[in-house]
Amino acid sequence: MSNFDTADVKRTLASIYYTSPEVMKQERELFLQTWQLAGHEKQIGKSGDFLTVTIFNQEFFLIHGSDGVVRCFANVCPHRGHRLVSECGNKSRITCPYHAWTFTHEGKLMGQKKTTTTELPGRNEIGLSEIPVSNIAGFLFINASGDAPPISDFAPGLCKQVEMGVPDIKNYALEDGPALGHSYECRANWKILIDNYLECHHCSTAHESFDDMMDIANSKFELYPNFTYQVAPTALKSETKAFPLDLEHDVTIGQFWFLFPNTVFGQFPGVPGFYASRFDPVSPDVTQRRTWSLTVAKDTDPEMSRRHKLRSEWSSNVVSQEDRKLCENVQRGMHQAAYDQGWYIVDPEAHGISEHAMRHFHQTYLKTLPEKKVS
Ligand code: FES
Ligand SMILES: [Fe+2]
Repeated sequence: MSNFDTADVKRTLASIYYTSPEVMKQERELFLQTWQLAGHEKQIGKSGDFLTVTIFNQEFFLIHGSDGVVRCFANVCPHRGHRLVSECGNKSRITCPYHAWTFTHEGKLMGQKKTTTTELPGRNEIGLSEIPVSNIAGFLFINASGDAPPISDFAPGLCKQVEMGVPDIKNYALEDGPALGHSYECRANWKILIDNYLECHHCSTAHESFDDMMDIANSKFELYPNFTYQVAPTALKSETKAFPLDLEHDVTIGQFWFLFPNTVFGQFPGVPGFYASRFDPVSPDVTQRRTWSLTVAKDTDPEMSRRHKLRSEWSSNVVSQEDRKLCENVQRGMHQAAYDQGWYIVDPEAHGISEHAMRHFHQTYLKTLPEKKVS
């Protein structure tokens, strides 16, 4: 795959892909067959720590085993189907709240109520249903299809690229709460949000302050199988219309990844840190974006927390709101009889306005959708 998509496709995804409940049924299968961001290893750092994840209506939990391995199981009891654990916490063993069947961290059945005359199925026949877990720079991904190849085969080179792009990421601390303010519901199809993330054609018209801080004309997209990488330098100004930058201590280049189909992560300019977000479809017209953020464990300078706060406020109150309005407006457009397909703007020399990364996403999506035909 070249770093520039050469697909000779001029028209964008048809609007039905953004509005149809039938398409969403197929996307449910797609999401259950691909790697989904579940959380960060620091959320479950000790033996017995667990967290829960839901993909569409399928429930799972990840647990840090007594052997140090993080495993993921379907959150359903094999006895009669009760949910095993809720939200997050710590369990020395997993005991079902219904009839108290008990399981080890490895998912093996270890205890049931019984008398000497009780007939029980053999313990070795029963266990929790396990699915694979992958790790990218501390972020945990699960794949509900059960027999998926590791994420390193799905997106070759991604893990290494993140570790090289953000070499001190392992030392960052997990922030409580969505520090970049990106945890929100948007009344638009999940792909509208990804489309918007994958191009900066809109930045100069719709993000005045971001555009002032950045040097978008010198940004570049690189395309790979199942992921993209965007590098975007700032204009190297300490005072900007977005938030102040400390040119000595702060990050002055933005790096943004997209992992097919619904995860984005990267390093924003400003105070050193990292974010990862999952876009969860709620319905064809509504998406929930959930974000995990990391920051340096120790302040780089006495003014760091002030700059951090200013960036968080700008992110929540300015740029996220600008993007949300754009996406919700486009979603209305998808329902208009006069609109069916849009047009890609592509320029191999000017990635700051080019929409080829978005086209790459659409091409991957169409190839991977379980049923290719949509009517
Ligand atoms: S459903 Fe879990 S023990 Fe009965
Ligand atoms: Fe935007």
